[in-house]
Amino acid sequence: MKRLFSGMQPTGSPHIGNYLGAIENWVALQEQFDAIYSIVDLHALTIEYNPTEMSRRVFEMAAILLACGIDAPNRCTLFVQSHVPQHSELAWIFNTVTPLAELYRMTQFKSKAETHEKNVNCGLLAYPVLQAADILLYKGEVVPVGEDQVQHIELARIVARKFNNRFGTEYFPEPMEKVSIAKRVRGLDGQAKMSKSLNNQIDVIESPESVWEKLRVAVTDPARIRRKDVGNPDNCNISSLHELFSTAEQIEWAKNGCRTAGIGCFECKRVLADNIIQRFAPIREKALALLEEKSTVERVLAQGAEKARDIASGTMKDVRGILGLY
Ligand code: TYM
Repeated sequence: MKRLFSGMQPTGSPHIGNYLGAIENWVALQEQFDAIYSIVDLHALTIEYNPTEMSRRVFEMAAILLACGIDAPNRCTLFVQSHVPQHSELAWIFNTVTPLAELYRMTQFKSKAETHEKNVNCGLLAYPVLQAADILLYKGEVVPVGEDQVQHIELARIVARKFNNRFGTEYFPEPMEKVSIAKRVRGLDGQAKMSKSLNNQIDVIESPESVWEKLRVAVTDPARIRRKDVGNPDNCNISSLHELFSTAEQIEWAKNGCRTAGIGCFECKRVLADNIIQRFAPIREKALALLEEKSTVERVLAQGAEKARDIASGTMKDVRGILGLY
């Protein structure tokens, strides 16, 4: 079985962009690959965060991933990145073969350097090097991600190639991204990608009341009012969310009703809200139970870290040999 690796930052509760862009795919792929999933807390240190919240966030993310159907430790491995120190060790080594110019090219670095202009630290720039180490520590060949991460996986290929060339080896494979169908879910502002940092998200375990509160005020086709209430579903994010959550009949109903002003945005949003609530209700219930009970998540993460450390220490032993360290 080919090895698959992917990670998610514990910068907040996972949202429906993470779910459709990654988690749903992770669940399906654990059947076909030797899958390793990580909650990448070291990546989350690169922007401002509250240390008193971090461990709760990691724990919550693990509970939600399990509730979504990540079947660790049976069908895959789930662990916390900082529990396996070899990630940082390999990242340092990769720093020494990664051209700076490649890192300055990264669009995520450029946009984060703008939004966090008071905290443009080295870690923000070297972030994709750590990501390459995550994948290559396990010799991951397949990496399921949303569209925003594709450039980082390209960089991981460059890092693998540079390392192999520098040391005359074929030790590291060149990993390939596997992009989900819902590769870029837009946020409730109707413009930007759904993201925790833009606060335009609906969380996977959002309460039904809150799903409706957020959708009720979400942006629709901005030109609808000017056109005397006739909308264009192609310009409406609510319509694109229908495509992800509704039946074929409902999607048609929403599009037609929008074009003819046969239905109002309110009605259209209500049907979408009900579908989102229904889709995530069993996950929400399971996640809340796991959060309450604690021991299952603790056990899964401890076993996951042990398995990950085992593989990681094997890789680092080889890498030290290849580098010629004493
Ligand atoms: P992160 O934590 O931002 O997001 C986790 C996954 O969710 C996807 N995603 C989306 N997909 C569609 N629409 C959206 N609006 C949306 N928002 C997020 C992301 O593409 C990602 O797949 N750097 C990574 C974490 C990481 C990683 C890795 C990933 C660290 N090491 C190794 C793969 C392999 C990140 O910040 O993802």
